[in-house]
Amino acid sequence: MTSAMTLGFWYPIVLTRHLRRGTLTRQHVAGVPIVMGRDRRGAPFAFLDHCPHRGMPLSFARFDGGTLECAYHGWRFDAQTGTCQAIPSLPSDTTVSISKITATRVPAVDRDGHVWVYLADPLAPGAAPPPPPTLPVFSARHHLTHLAVDVGCGFDEAVISLLDPAHGPFVHRAWWWRKPRMMYDKSKVFEPIPDGFRIPPHEPSGNSAPYKVLRLYRYPKQTTIEFHLPSTRLEVTRCGPYWFSSRTVVIPIDANRCRLDFCAAWNMFRMVPLVSKVFRLFGGMFLRQDKRSLERLALGLAHGPSTMLLGDADTPARWYLQLRTAYLNARRSGEALKHPLEQPTRLRWRS
Ligand code: FES
Ligand SMILES: [Fe+2]
Repeated sequence: MTSAMTLGFWYPIVLTRHLRRGTLTRQHVAGVPIVMGRDRRGAPFAFLDHCPHRGMPLSFARFDGGTLECAYHGWRFDAQTGTCQAIPSLPSDTTVSISKITATRVPAVDRDGHVWVYLADPLAPGAAPPPPPTLPVFSARHHLTHLAVDVGCGFDEAVISLLDPAHGPFVHRAWWWRKPRMMYDKSKVFEPIPDGFRIPPHEPSGNSAPYKVLRLYRYPKQTTIEFHLPSTRLEVTRCGPYWFSSRTVVIPIDANRCRLDFCAAWNMFRMVPLVSKVFRLFGGMFLRQDKRSLERLALGLAHGPSTMLLGDADTPARWYLQLRTAYLNARRSGEALKHPLEQPTRLRWRS
């Protein structure tokens, strides 16, 4: 699988602390095998996981912190540039200019506790990647946490579940959280942004996660929720000097697998012991609930049933599908993206 929609974007693939100096790891993004590593000076790097000679995965290479030595014939490649530095089988008087041979580099950076890689857009080869996304934070001192689950489902289904306001009461059930009967009428304005859409700053709903956490503070609360192509949901809540910021990214792994990667930063309850642990406990439970429901959904979709998008609760999903088509058309034609949301639009649903 290399869906055109997933190319031309950055993805957070491994945790910064898991990619140690002098180590290599094989990963898959959008069906593409990638070898990632960190050199002896601490800089991350990534390559397509095959040797330019005969295709041996470079993830089997011997790595000394500076060069990768292919496990098959010992060709050596610089870890940062990918330039070939040695071909042991060549006679000493060779005229082959080995520095013209390179392993295919994949841009990689550390950001917000992850190592991100950029999958190039084949329609814009050689174009410099845009800067990688950054989680908004509003004070130097804050908690930062990461959670992720791999899910056996298609990419679009996972993205649509990020945008689906109606599954909460039925998937994220817990006695301490809420029950289906605790559903309220919701009415929210959505507005277009260049690569997605957003709910502009508004008072969070009484049964939303940030509200429950922040209700102990008396300051007015404002939440902004954004969706950015290809698969990022960003939610920021401000409450006087306090704030909570979270990002969920659906990472395509292959045709039937993706990862829900969740990263959150906040500055409230910093003095309360175990706050990060408690947060991770609940966050992990939410992600596992989404995983279970998406994997059950995949069982249903395996038989190709006809499905429908109904009412305002399914409208963000409809916009996503329209937006990705518009994005692909714009990329192919070189023309401006024709955004499916022409103006701010109010949606009403119960959840
Ligand atoms: S396949 Fe890598 S050196 Fe031959
Ligand atoms: Fe969910």
